[in-house]
This record gives sequence, structure tokens and C-alpha cells, in this order.
Amino acid sequence: MPDLNCTYRPPPVKCNGFDPRAFRWALTMRLAVEEINQSPELLPNSTLGYKIFDSCAYPLTGQRAALAVLNGLSEEDSPTCSGASPLLAVIGESGSAQSIVVSRILQPFRIPMISYFSSCACFTDRRKYPTFFRVIPNDDYQVKAIAQLLVRFNWTWVGLVRGDHEYGRFAVQGLLRELQGSKVCVAYQEMIPLLYNRGKALEIMKVMSSSSAKVVVVFSAEGEMTPFLRDYMEQNITGIQWVASEAWVTASVFTGSEYYPYLGGTIGFGIRKGRIPGLSDYLQTVNPQRYPNNTLVQELWEALYGCTYSQFPATKLPACSGQESLLEQHSAYMNTSSPRVAYNVYKAVYAVAHSLHNLLLCQPDNGPFQNNSCAQSNNIFPWQLQHYLQEVNFNIDGEEVNFDLKGDSIPYYDIINWQRGTSGNIEFVHVGLFDGTKTAGEELVIQEDRIIWAGHQSEVPVSVCSASCLPGSRKAVRRGEPVCCFDCVPCDSGKISNQTNSVECTFCPEDFWSNSNRTACIPKKVEFLSYDSLGIALTVISVVGACITVAVFAVFFFYRNTAIVRVNNSELSFFILFALTLCFLCCLVFIGEPTVWSCMLRHTAFSITFSLCISCILGKTLVVLAAFTATRPGDNIMKWLGPRQQRAIIFSCTLVQVVICAAWLIDAPPYPSRNTKYERSKIILECSVGSSLAFWCVLGYIGLQACLCFVLAFLARKLPGNFNEAKFITFSMLIFCAVWLAFIPAYISSPGKYADAVESFAILASSFGLLFCLFAPKCYIILLKPEKNTKQHLMGKEKK
Ligand code: TRP
Repeated sequence: MPDLNCTYRPPPVKCNGFDPRAFRWALTMRLAVEEINQSPELLPNSTLGYKIFDSCAYPLTGQRAALAVLNGLSEEDSPTCSGASPLLAVIGESGSAQSIVVSRILQPFRIPMISYFSSCACFTDRRKYPTFFRVIPNDDYQVKAIAQLLVRFNWTWVGLVRGDHEYGRFAVQGLLRELQGSKVCVAYQEMIPLLYNRGKALEIMKVMSSSSAKVVVVFSAEGEMTPFLRDYMEQNITGIQWVASEAWVTASVFTGSEYYPYLGGTIGFGIRKGRIPGLSDYLQTVNPQRYPNNTLVQELWEALYGCTYSQFPATKLPACSGQESLLEQHSAYMNTSSPRVAYNVYKAVYAVAHSLHNLLLCQPDNGPFQNNSCAQSNNIFPWQLQHYLQEVNFNIDGEEVNFDLKGDSIPYYDIINWQRGTSGNIEFVHVGLFDGTKTAGEELVIQEDRIIWAGHQSEVPVSVCSASCLPGSRKAVRRGEPVCCFDCVPCDSGKISNQTNSVECTFCPEDFWSNSNRTACIPKKVEFLSYDSLGIALTVISVVGACITVAVFAVFFFYRNTAIVRVNNSELSFFILFALTLCFLCCLVFIGEPTVWSCMLRHTAFSITFSLCISCILGKTLVVLAAFTATRPGDNIMKWLGPRQQRAIIFSCTLVQVVICAAWLIDAPPYPSRNTKYERSKIILECSVGSSLAFWCVLGYIGLQACLCFVLAFLARKLPGNFNEAKFITFSMLIFCAVWLAFIPAYISSPGKYADAVESFAILASSFGLLFCLFAPKCYIILLKPEKNTKQHLMGKEKK
């Protein structure tokens, strides 16, 4: 911009470079006007006139142009001479920023304008821009399409770069709004300054290359992209997947082969293309010889051929001859195979022509204006044309053109992918479309297999902040960071997640538990004392114990007439051996899956047999004690402890236990239960005692008997005789009590099947204790020292 300090007349604005693409658009307008003027159907008796201004894609220049055309010719020079506007409609501007300025200037005069490239969503406000029309879809659709594209390819971590203009501002705003609530997060937002600044651009590139967001969405146009990309290529940054906005996705300036390593794979939404039959030929007719006074044509030549027309060339470029021929390679100008923006220009001109045509066709007294009047053909007001523009509806190249109430047109985009052509140049390949008129979800159609991605890859690039969480773990958001950045934490035991990127781990249903990977619920392990190594060991021990007992029984039975057996009350001994066999066998009920019966049997069988056993021992102790304490022979205490009485004592003592057990079984019998509380990953099958009071009563009763027995035996331990059984009974009770005292804490603290194992061991240990203490010494004498098996010896009365 020149210095506008108002102290001298500002020099004209100098444009920075020449844009052959925009020049093509201008020529397209010319072509359209010429076509219409030659057409016998459209506006047969009128000729359209036009003026083209160059705004240099800069708002202030656009403003100057608008004011210039409004001030225009003086009234006397005007061909209409009637005070009507010198101008009926404006085709333009290209960029939204310029369009805003121009639209505001035209607004008071109610001159309609039709933009062919201003897509900013800001124009939808009809109150602010009442005379604005456009033949390009509103950016609201484009950002929706881009958001869907990002979601579609799972690009959840993207960078946004925009130019410093309304277009960029509104597009980024719109995209952020679309992305809200979606799984896509924005890693950074950068702005290329209006007046290009290399330092700032390098900063942006640093952000881009250091970020893990490999996908960068750019809302900008060639103007600022050209220097930016030049620096970008200089920095040799690669690996960026560009998502181009419609403003530059079909910009031929970037199709040179040198761009391919950096821009190849770019994807974006291009506006609808069309066919302009005569465009290519028309562009060919332009050359400096034909238009010697048109500086723009000279500039075009300079831009295309790298030559110069100035008499005093500042650079050492060769002089243009004007004979150069236009070739395919001048794609920036000559790329007419699928005009998009040029096609929009064409449509816009036709829209004006058709409206004007309709206006002129108006039947008097049947018009749309006050009192059914029509516009006067020699004095048309722009607002009258606006009325017809709003209404216009016509077909070009099979496409319907009209404007909705906001002046917008039908939303349709092609998806364009930048691929390498045969000559190494970049080609725009059509790989899909976005049709905004379709129902939600069906708008985007992509032929994924045809896309070539950045870096000449065929796999979709990955652009995420955190890699997705595998099944078995869940996302944990990092504090103060966007939701797309998260850690993966493994699920707790008992919870699973079976999908990638689960937000939460779910609890397994009852009776199920997570597997070690936490990806599935598997039935909980059922645990009980089964015939595994522990169970087998217990079984073997108890069977061996029972066999030994039976063997002892056999020995005693065989030697039942020898002194030692007889002296020691053979009947009681047999009872004890019988009870001990049962005790050993009791243990077997504890092994195997608990059932209703085995549960009931477990504690009752064991307690009754033990009770029986200890009752017998108690009886024996009593007999021993009584025999020796009967000081006087006449006391005859033995009369009170004869075999019948002994049996009665044993029976009654056992009966007490039987009664307790019966009460227990009737009132609250033990039952099999599934314990899931002790260990949450297992189901422990156990016998619930039903009534713990009864359980402890039963044990307590055995304990009581044992203690009583112990005390009595203790009293009798010092009594004379070589073979004092009381000594051994004391000892056996000591072992018995020790075993059961140790049992209590072990039982309470051991889980599940180990409680059963502990109980079995206690039973076995105490049974063995009793068996060995009571019977080993006797068997020793019977079998190994038969010479001692005499009454004299036993009484300690034999002579030494
Ligand atoms: N669709 C863009 C817009 O509305 C197109 C455009 C044309 C543009 N010229 C521009 C964008 C210059 C930025 C700068 O503005």
C-alpha cells in the first residue's frame, strides 16, 4: 500500500505480482458478456456493458474500485442521462474480505452484487448484506464437510492455519464449532499475517513441525500461500498432510513438480466445476499483439513467459516478443479443462443477464412493483434488478442456478486430491464429493482407494495426540489438556473393556471375572477342597490312619487274652479304636464338592465320633483313677464303675453331643454356600456352618471333654505301676488340646478350601495323636516285648 498520509496525492496502488488465474476469470466474464450480446434469445434488443477493475485481492483497493465506478462518468456523459445509476450490478468480488467492503459501499445505492468466490459464512446476515448474492456455497457447508472428513479418517489431532481475513476467521470459527463435541481436537491455530512476514511464518512452521498433529487444515488463498509455501519448502519440512480449503485446492500455481514432495497428497473440497464451451479458444485469442494497449495482457505475458515489456527493465529478463504461443504448461492461465471459479463467474454473468431479461419481459400492469408496475426499460433501478435476481432460475450446463432468501446457492463440493501426473506435475484428481442437499450422514462420498496421501503413501496418515487405547484399558484424560490427549490405564481386576478407546471399564457380571488381559469376562474359578494334591494327600493319610487303627484293632483282638489287653479294659479299648477309625474316615467327608448332605455330615459326624472317642478315654481315666484311689478294699468303688456303668457314662456323654448336633441340624443345618466375598476373583464353595453358635458349642463340648479328661489323667499320672495308662492319656490329651487350640486361629484366618484342609488336618493330627499315645506303647509290648506282657510286670510286682 502507498503511504496514505494525506499530505500529497496518493500514488496508485502497486500490485504485488500478477495472478493469471484471476485474469482468466476476468476474461471469462468478457466471454460471457460477448456470448449474451450475440445471443438472439437472451436480451435480444439490449447490449450489456461492463467495466473490469483490479482490486489486487486487497480490500482497500476493492473499495477504491467500487467508489471509482460509482462516481463514474458525469451525468452529461452518461448514456442514460436520466439520473439512473450508472451501474446495475457488480460481479465480484473474489475474496470475502474485499466483498464485504464493496458490498457496504454498494448497499446505500441498493446495487446488487453477485460474488463468484466469496464463501464467508458472514454473508448470511441479510440485514448486513441485503444486496449480496453468490454462486458459491456458504462456508458453513465446507467446514461441515471438512469436519466430516477429519472424523472419517480418524484425524483427531489437527492444526489450523488461516490467512488474516474474514474468510479465514469465519471458516476457522465455523470449523471449531463443527468440531465441538466431536472426537477431533485442534492442536494449534496459526495465522499467516496479512503483510507477509518471514519471521512469523517460520514460527508457524516450527509449531507445525514440532507438533504431533500431522494434518493441517489451511483456510487461505494463493496470495499468502505462495510466499508461505516458498519458505516452507526452504525449511524442508515434510510429513504434513494438508487439507486445503476451496480457495486454494484448485490453484494451478502450485502444480509445478517442485511442489510435489511438499504438497503431494493434499486433499480438499473444490467448488463445483462446469463446462464453458468456448473458453479455451477464447483465452488463446489473447496476446499482446491483439491488445497492444492492455497492460494486463502484457503483464500476463511477463508472468507466463518470464520476459519483460518495460523499456527500462529492472531485471535482466529477456524482452517479450509477443509471438510466444500459449501452451498446456501455462496451466495457471490455460487450465480450462474443468473451470470452477471461472464457471462461477460465467454463472454470475448469466444470472444478471437472465434477471435483466425477465425484467424487460415484464407485462405492463402486471409487474411486481408498486401498483403492479414494471421497471422502465430506459431507466432501470438497481433495486428492481435485485428483485429479479432474487427470483431468477435458469439452467446452465444442466445445472440449475438460483438464489435462496439469503442469496446463497446450492451446496455441492468435489473432493480433490493432489496426485503426481505423468509429467511430474501435480494433478487435481476427483476422489469424491460432498452433497449438502443429502440427508445428514450421506453427504460425504469418498473413493478412498483412489487417494494418494502426503509422502506418496497409500495408507491414511495418522494424526493423533495419543495412540488409541487397546481393549483392556481405558482412556484417562490428562488434566488441562484437550480430550484427544489421554493416557491409557489398564482396567482394574474384575472390570473389562472390549473395545479400543473405551472411556470406561465395565464391571463383569456376577459369577464372572476379568481375564488377565482385562478384555473379557470369564466365569469365576470355583474353588473347593477337591482331589488335587492336597485332597489326595489328606485322603491317603486318613485311609492309612484308618488302616493302622484297624490293624491295632486286629492285634488287640488277637492278643485279647494277654495281660496288657485285659488289664487295660479291653472293651473300652475296642470302643476307642472303633471311634478312632470313624474319626479318620470323617476326614473324607471334607474332600470334594460340598453338597447338602456332605455339609450336614461334616461337622456332626466328626463331632460325634470325637465325642465318642473322648468319652471312652474319659471313662478309662475314671476307671484308672477310681481303681487306685480306692484306698480301702471294702470301699468297692469299682462296683460303681463296672462295665455297665462305664457304657452308660460313655453313652450319656456322647448323647449330649448327639443332642446338640440334632438341634443344630433341625434348627439351622450347615448348608453349601458360594462365598464370593473372600476373594473376588473366585467362587469358594464351602459349607456355611448355619449356626455358628452350634458350631462352637460342638467344638466347645469336645474341648470340655478333652480338658476334663486331661485333668483327671493328670491327677492319675503318678499312680504306681509299671504300666500306668494315665500317663499316656495325659500326653494324648495334651497333644489333642494343642492341635485344636492351634486349629482355631488357623481355621478363622484361612480362606475357602484351606479352612476345610486345616480342619481335616486337625482331625487327622489329633486322631493320630490319640492312636499313637494310647496304643503304640501297648502294641510295642504286645508285639516286641511279649516277656513283659505279664500281670506281674504290669503291676510292677515281678522280682528283679
Ligand atoms: N472463498 C474465499 C473467500 O471467500 C476465496 C478467496 C478469493 C480468498 N480470494 C481470496 C481468500 C483472497 C483469501 C484471500 O474469501
